[in-house]
Amino acid sequence: MASIDVEEVLAKLTVEEKISLLAGRDFWHTVPIPKHGIPSLRTSDGPNGVRGTRNFNGVPAACFPCGTALGATWNQDLLLEAGRLMGDEAKAKGAHILLGPCINMQRSPLGGRGFESISEDPILAGLGAASLTNGIQSTGVVATIKHFITNDQEHERTAVDSVVTERALREIYLLPFQLALRDSYPKAFMTSYNKLNGTHVSENKKILQDILRGELGWKGAIMSDWFGTYSTEVAINAGLDLEMPGPTRFRGGLLAHLVSSRKVPTHTLDERARNMLNLVNVCAASGVKEDAEEGKLDTPETAAILRKLTGESIVLFKNDNDVLPLKKDKSVLLIGPNAKTSVFCGGGSSSMAPYYAISPWDGVKAKLKDDGKMEHAIGCYSHKELPLVTNQFTVTSDPNSKKGLVFRAYNEPPSAGKDREVADEIELDSSLAMLMDYHNPKLKGDLWYATIEGYLTAERTGEYELGLCIYGTGKMYVDGEEKVDNETKQTQGTVFYGCGTVEERGTVAMEKGKTYHIKLEFASAPTSKLNGDGIVRFGGGGFRIGGAWVLNMDDTIAEAARMAKDAEQVVICAGLNQDWEGEGADRADMRLPGRMDDLITAVAEANPMTVVVNQTGTPVEMPWLSKVAGLLQAWYGGNETGNGIADALFGDINPSGRSSLSWPKRVEDNPAFYNYRSEGGRVLYGEDVYVGYRHYEMVKRDVNFAFGYGLSYTNFELSDLKVEKSGGEGKELDAKVKVTVSIKNTGKLDGAEVVQVYLHQQTPTIRRPPRELKGFTKVAVKAGGGETATVEIPLKYAASYWDEIRSSWIMEAGEYDVEVVDGSGKQDALKGSVVVDKTVWWNGL
Ligand code: BGC
Repeated sequence: MASIDVEEVLAKLTVEEKISLLAGRDFWHTVPIPKHGIPSLRTSDGPNGVRGTRNFNGVPAACFPCGTALGATWNQDLLLEAGRLMGDEAKAKGAHILLGPCINMQRSPLGGRGFESISEDPILAGLGAASLTNGIQSTGVVATIKHFITNDQEHERTAVDSVVTERALREIYLLPFQLALRDSYPKAFMTSYNKLNGTHVSENKKILQDILRGELGWKGAIMSDWFGTYSTEVAINAGLDLEMPGPTRFRGGLLAHLVSSRKVPTHTLDERARNMLNLVNVCAASGVKEDAEEGKLDTPETAAILRKLTGESIVLFKNDNDVLPLKKDKSVLLIGPNAKTSVFCGGGSSSMAPYYAISPWDGVKAKLKDDGKMEHAIGCYSHKELPLVTNQFTVTSDPNSKKGLVFRAYNEPPSAGKDREVADEIELDSSLAMLMDYHNPKLKGDLWYATIEGYLTAERTGEYELGLCIYGTGKMYVDGEEKVDNETKQTQGTVFYGCGTVEERGTVAMEKGKTYHIKLEFASAPTSKLNGDGIVRFGGGGFRIGGAWVLNMDDTIAEAARMAKDAEQVVICAGLNQDWEGEGADRADMRLPGRMDDLITAVAEANPMTVVVNQTGTPVEMPWLSKVAGLLQAWYGGNETGNGIADALFGDINPSGRSSLSWPKRVEDNPAFYNYRSEGGRVLYGEDVYVGYRHYEMVKRDVNFAFGYGLSYTNFELSDLKVEKSGGEGKELDAKVKVTVSIKNTGKLDGAEVVQVYLHQQTPTIRRPPRELKGFTKVAVKAGGGETATVEIPLKYAASYWDEIRSSWIMEAGEYDVEVVDGSGKQDALKGSVVVDKTVWWNGL
């Protein structure tokens, strides 16, 4: 791809050609104009890796730990490395533009997509996103920071109005984007689905033109979220360059008409087209060819970086009596439904087919000496929808044949019988199929049909339960007999971004050793009977086939506790999964699902040295917390999930993660509790700037784990705090606060310490949170050794709050306390202070 002379090309383009640049060609690509040397650009999700251009039957990819996990590393150098790998992965997938990082805010622990964003704190989120962006863009690939702005819940996400004060908007929601601009300059922005204070963001001139391009001086291309363009002239006049996905709904001939009637001025059209042409040039620097084949970067180097990231994201929450690290020469009992599956990513557009995914079972097994003894107890189920059948079914009736299912697509319904012709045939590796970007030229329209079939050879005699969620309609048959009807009557569920049904289930009595033929008759999205506001609808549709043996959970919990009683080392793999945390729906409560709390309690009562590995993207309640000896927070860890967990469990790494979120005891303690869903079309950001720890500290409410908390297998001692101000009188706006601290590793293991710097204004004119994170650094310190950590922060970013009367940041004269903590809670904060001599107001970066 060669670069172009933007002004020369622009001058040659017809109105129609300019318009064609402003919407997608298809789900993932922009429109090319070959005669002017303008190529098609490829976008790809993001943010925890690069999925490529197919949701359905996609090319395998490197799945990174989720956003909150990346935040928990508190390691900007490592995130830079992660970004570089994301850029290289994008190139392998032929993508010029990566749809990430994501920095919305976890106002509530219940957010369906909370796991995708970095932190509840704007500084950790903004600096983390800047590192990722710098890494991505160092490869020539464009980072698209998203979702701009206040898309902090899933409920009615396209229709809800986020009602936010100007101050909270600036200090909490815009600040991370501002920091990412200041420190890295992402070259594309994606607008969010929602309204902000009455206007959809993709039509919000104040946000896009006045603030982002005006006040913050950013020059780049703005695209809508997928199907998040809602108008023609309003959006284009407000600053939205690119409607995604294509083909266009709002531009094309309609826009040409509005240009000719000057509802959209020619210079505005030119400006939008210019932004797209500039983007073409930026993308040319990546060296990625147009419409390139999608490939893989499944190398040992990729695996090594992913493993490091996963390990470093893990937070050691509890370690009573040094139960951890575990011993490699003792046996291990692994309990729980998440032990033998890899819970590697959350659900929705960020999910992908991983190159491979290591389960905790495999990770632990690789650690034990001399093939140390391992046992497993399921304990209980924790699924929302039944587990995917992918690894249970075979493609033919031979039980030794390939695992998976066979998909056949048709233009004709099943009633056409033998006359229907197979338009497509695919062996599926997953029984979850999101068909939004599925395209086959033999299928003649939006309405089409498919059969999906596989075989299950029963491993036991008992009741087997089958489940079907669908976007479209479908029925399931076992050996020709109808078992699940998700066609006649459909109930709104949360799958497929909120477009799908609840799971309809049916049971089958099975006999050990017998093979059963299982078939789904599927009809595509237009047959869906569901309707609802605030949901993004897409073509194709989707199906999700689940299945599991019916268990008596009283028995399985009792069995797990009995086994734990005499076990040498006990680890429970608990948590959520992508059915609970995913795009399109928020969680209904903050509890672990099913009987998981009962299981942990029973096992911990039987064996007080029990360790829990919790895999969730956001907080859960932990009624059993005082009963367990050890607790690791392991998030959704990507391909290397099981290895990272095992590395931390056995001390091959020394945990250095710190929580990127606060962990309230109960969901009712969360400041957004009153206001976390769309009610009457709006959601009130009633907690204002008191998001996360800013609230818990203000009202002195205990949490299970504070923001920034995390232990290590060694101990650190911080001392000799020095706070210096550079700049001098009259130069407050250019001044910096330099914080220096000595760190000693007083334990027996090498480790890494996170130095966190918080500020508190002693006498502000308005009320401010008790303290706010302003900077941080992570430092490796050898056992018995010492290091010096330095954190430098621009004074104006450290001290200012948003002055609503002047519509400006204000840095007030006066004294500010500087607190330095390490997050372990083992040592009191070191305290210093800095003085601002003169009150100043400022705008911009
Ligand atoms: C999501 C975006 C994503 C896009 C493309 C939308 O549903 O909100 O984050 O980049 O789809 O998959």
